[in-house]
Amino acid sequence: MYSENRQQSSQGLSLENLAQEFGTPLYVYDANTIIQQIEKLKKAFSSIDLKIKYAAKALTNVNVLRLMKQQGIGVDVVSVNEGRLAMMAGFSPAEIMFTPNCVDFSEIEEAVNYGFAINLDNIPALEKFGRTYGHSKACAIRINPGVMAGGNYKISTGHDQSKFGISIQQLPQIIDIVKKYNLHINGLHVHTGSEVVDVEVFLKVADILFKAALNFQELDFIDFGGGFKVAYQEGDKVTDVNALGKALSESFQKFCSDYGKKLQAWIEPGKFLVSEAGLLLVKTTVVKETPSITFAGVNSGLNHLIRPMMYDAYHHVSNVSNPGGERKTYTIVGYICETDTLAAERSLPEIQEGHILAIHNAGAYGFSMASNYNARLRPAEVLIENGKARLIRKQESFEDLLQGQIM
Ligand code: LLP
Repeated sequence: MYSENRQQSSQGLSLENLAQEFGTPLYVYDANTIIQQIEKLKKAFSSIDLKIKYAAKALTNVNVLRLMKQQGIGVDVVSVNEGRLAMMAGFSPAEIMFTPNCVDFSEIEEAVNYGFAINLDNIPALEKFGRTYGHSKACAIRINPGVMAGGNYKISTGHDQSKFGISIQQLPQIIDIVKKYNLHINGLHVHTGSEVVDVEVFLKVADILFKAALNFQELDFIDFGGGFKVAYQEGDKVTDVNALGKALSESFQKFCSDYGKKLQAWIEPGKFLVSEAGLLLVKTTVVKETPSITFAGVNSGLNHLIRPMMYDAYHHVSNVSNPGGERKTYTIVGYICETDTLAAERSLPEIQEGHILAIHNAGAYGFSMASNYNARLRPAEVLIENGKARLIRKQESFEDLLQGQIM
């Protein structure tokens, strides 16, 4: 994945030319990579009835959502607005799984009115759902399995101290509420965290769900969430989706026979589908030597890609303009009035002012977490399909910063 080719071009289009044609900073997404990732999952889980629900929060551009729809997969959303974007991309409400966290109940009602699949993650919401709809509308329940897993504490969501899900220890309470309101529970859900490498973790969590599931008679699906780890750098450990598909499918089939019904298995990958498909192209504005460090300053920063500063995430960087240059050590920093190191102490081919750098794995949680901090504009986005690059979002303008302000 970090071959020289991939560092210079995407589907045969030179990154340098793309930077010139569309300007920088620029998010570039390769549709082929997304399609290949979907195919890998379909193949890995081919022995069971798998429904992939793309976690839209990773990258919500409607054109990307439309690409997902064309591949025949569904979508997972965390807000009604994400659901509305998904509908604009052509998803039917029933294909949209709504998994909110700590929202006002009115947003859940709105999602019910749209016809989304509903997934509830706290007991008060379950009570309100019961009081409002009784058995007339179905909902799923997000279980917190009490398992610590994932890349780091901030992106781990299934442990005891996490705000997500209803603790598995509260299962008796859940059952009481379901009985009290004759609730129609159509699915059980779990999302343990992002960047979960270990297949064993997925299996352990699945077992917790399978056991709990025997308490609910009307299930149609079990949702195992997302969190499949991809490589951010050479040699990174990744989730072995083939091994996961094989092992999880086996235990799922066994569970279905215990349950007495063939259910659907749902998964909600975000990073797995779009992380590696995306690059952020930036331009070097200054090479700044200090007595201790050589900085390459670029026309971007934590406003466009917050992951390095927020999670200490490692993003591979390549010098698109000078791939064969002599290697030196650089720290790549942004133009924001904060410490916004995008990549520290990297060995890169010599960087000069004006050189285009590509920041890799920028497809997931890149643009979708971008902001206007320092009154900076958010970048344009380009999608490459069938060897052609298409602008799918314009760079913002000054007028966009004024939108909504009352003067
Ligand atoms: N399903 C649910 C309910 C989720 O909350 C998430 C991610 C996913 C699926 C997809 O997880 P993935 O396959 O992308 O790991 N912004 C952080 C990651 C936060 C993920 C939030 N939820 C990052 O950039 O690492």
